[in-house]
Amino acid sequence: MTNTKAKLADLSDPLKIFQARFELPDNVIYLDGNSLGALPKTVKQRVAKTISEEWGEQLIRSWNTADWVHLPQRVGNKIARLIGAPEGSVVAADSTSINLFKVLSAALGLNAGRGKIVSEKENFPTDLYIAEGVAKQLGKGHQLVLADRPDDIPQMLDSDVAVLMLTHVNYRTGYRHDMAAITRAAHEKGILVVWDLAHSAGAMPVDLTGANADFAIGCGYKYLNGGPGAPAFLYVNPRHQGAFNQPLSGWFGHRSPFNFETGYVPSEGIEQYLCGTPQVLGMVALDEALSVWDDVDMEALRDKSIALGDYFIEGIDAFSAEYGLELVTPREAEKRGSQVSYSCENGYAIMQALIARGVIGDFRAPDIIRFGFTPLYLSFADVEKAIAILQDVLKTRSWDSDAYRVLGAVT
Ligand SMILES: Cc1ncc(COP(=O)(O)O)c(C=O)c1O
Repeated sequence: MTNTKAKLADLSDPLKIFQARFELPDNVIYLDGNSLGALPKTVKQRVAKTISEEWGEQLIRSWNTADWVHLPQRVGNKIARLIGAPEGSVVAADSTSINLFKVLSAALGLNAGRGKIVSEKENFPTDLYIAEGVAKQLGKGHQLVLADRPDDIPQMLDSDVAVLMLTHVNYRTGYRHDMAAITRAAHEKGILVVWDLAHSAGAMPVDLTGANADFAIGCGYKYLNGGPGAPAFLYVNPRHQGAFNQPLSGWFGHRSPFNFETGYVPSEGIEQYLCGTPQVLGMVALDEALSVWDDVDMEALRDKSIALGDYFIEGIDAFSAEYGLELVTPREAEKRGSQVSYSCENGYAIMQALIARGVIGDFRAPDIIRFGFTPLYLSFADVEKAIAILQDVLKTRSWDSDAYRVLGAVT
């Protein structure tokens, strides 16, 4: 039975109309849109049409007739509206990791002469791995210096730091940095800032222009609902465009790719950050998925995201101590993104038992169970049911089974 509080919250939810736009199986409460967004219904038809008509019938002509060739810019402009970036400053391409390689290389090139990249120990591993790789590749002895905690970052910003590279919302804890304040503090020391928006694009309003961010990257398959392995995106502040060449100098970043010139001359615009042929099917799925956002009020989205998170935290508070669940996400709404995580013993088995009951979240080693709140397709009644099922799984110890200890390749 849904209690009155959840019912009232659902009745007055201005975003409830959006749930019908997504394909969601019955008996599933999907709390993993922060990892793979749900399927927007119209994506199915759009991709099918692209395959049967554009690829099947029009064949190679579709690069022009269906304008496949400009998908990276078109999709980029749709994403730009969600992250406070001007037209022409965002492209969709490649993966987040590859885009980080491009923008981090560019940022280090713009701040040559400085020796450090600052980030956090808790940053998503791919960001740290790519930074290690870029530093090695440049061969100029760049040092990657990692903060133990977010509060340590301001005192690490000195005149030898070239780039501060942070993820806006932490993938594990859901901690959210104050993008504007940190960017300002870094700029005061002449440091360029690269933001990873994997857990913020489509989860909340983001204002890259207001924060005067230098570069940003992010995923298409999480809150943007572009589908598994969807193209990622990257943002370059217009004041840096053309100031430095990114190193993956493929032909799609060339000023005129179809002139087939011998030497590389980069495009002056954001296209310079493209590399090779766009992944059309993935790009089309992401393009269609982004059309949902035309009607979304981003402030209402953030309000609902906070309310869903608060509702979940309060519900779990009633039994978390009894079962050893420790909240690792900040309680203060302004310090968190759109996910809530707990550390606990047997977290993997607990998550598998939850999934078996239709509550899909995920597990991040060594001990975090993670629940994402996607305001477009979650209701307060869903959250209430998820709380009750979690309590039941813990009370009955239904997780305590060998079947739930078998580790999948993806957790
Ligand atoms: C913060 C962050 N950055 C990057 C990625 C993934 O990058 P890629 O799309 O290259 O796999 C993730 C994936 O979960 C992430 O959480």
